[in-house]
Amino acid sequence: MTPKIFVTRPLPQPVMDLLKSNAEVRFNPEDAPMPVDKLAESCHDVDGLLVVSNAVTNELLGRATRLKVVSTPSVGYDNIDVAACTRRRIAVTNTTGVLEETTADLVFATLLATARRLVEADRFVREGRWKHWQFDLLYGVNVYQKTLGLIGFGNIGQAVARRARGFAMRILYSTRHRAPEPVERALEATYVDRETLLRESDFVSLHVPLTPETRHLIQAKDFSRMKPTAFLINTARGPVVDEESLVAALKAKQIAGAGLDVFENEPRIHPELLSMDNVVLIPHLGSATAETRLNMAMLAAQNLTEALAGRRPPNLINPEVYS
Ligand code: DGY
Repeated sequence: MTPKIFVTRPLPQPVMDLLKSNAEVRFNPEDAPMPVDKLAESCHDVDGLLVVSNAVTNELLGRATRLKVVSTPSVGYDNIDVAACTRRRIAVTNTTGVLEETTADLVFATLLATARRLVEADRFVREGRWKHWQFDLLYGVNVYQKTLGLIGFGNIGQAVARRARGFAMRILYSTRHRAPEPVERALEATYVDRETLLRESDFVSLHVPLTPETRHLIQAKDFSRMKPTAFLINTARGPVVDEESLVAALKAKQIAGAGLDVFENEPRIHPELLSMDNVVLIPHLGSATAETRLNMAMLAAQNLTEALAGRRPPNLINPEVYS
């Protein structure tokens, strides 16, 4: 019997073509999250779900009784109750391997924009405020030879470290599992505890997934350990940072600024962040290039079709389902 698939967003045509050559496909035509009930209704008879950002809860799974695979075109899968999927023997897949370099580019763009006040400078020019060249106009801070602290040192953290070497930065990292010695050597990265990293870094960049353990990983006490000249860069997940404490730290000048691609309650932005010139705000664009988004969607479709064909999909998150 031809399997049925539901896709929660319109995806590029080659991806839809791949899905359609393997299954009966229905999709949400809106490029926006779906109302929970509408999603549950759309999933009641499907074998595969390709989901973008909508939450896949135990309750939803209870209404999608034929489901065999949930595939997300993202590296993060904090929107999916993986434990509940595993209990129901539903495979869960992500798209590790195709978006790390693109995301690292955005991390570095955010870091540079924050350090060199690029967004503020653009506003200054557009508002007609630029009258003449000035010696001390919009001073930023150097990135070259500064210390970069990476919290989390997986594929994206390491891709950021590769870029940082081009800026002759000193690279510190802290992570649950220390990287193998050849990786540390190749990247000239030094493993330190989190306190040391916070105390010594000029830029602290977050590269951990959102899990119950990493929710509010960065909070008031961490900002008090950072240099008053340091910047926080968050392109991981908003709730990894306690946003109220971040706002308080920025107001108290405990840190110099922040570059944020993700927010605690996105797309809602803390109103005080909106009025701060030393904060660069980006609407969750980490992997947003046409090439990479196509690769992500294609890989998510391949994961889905492999699982529906009874084969173990690449990028499987819960291998227990196949044991
Ligand atoms: C990811 O891949 O997790 C990005 O944040 C897109 O959601």
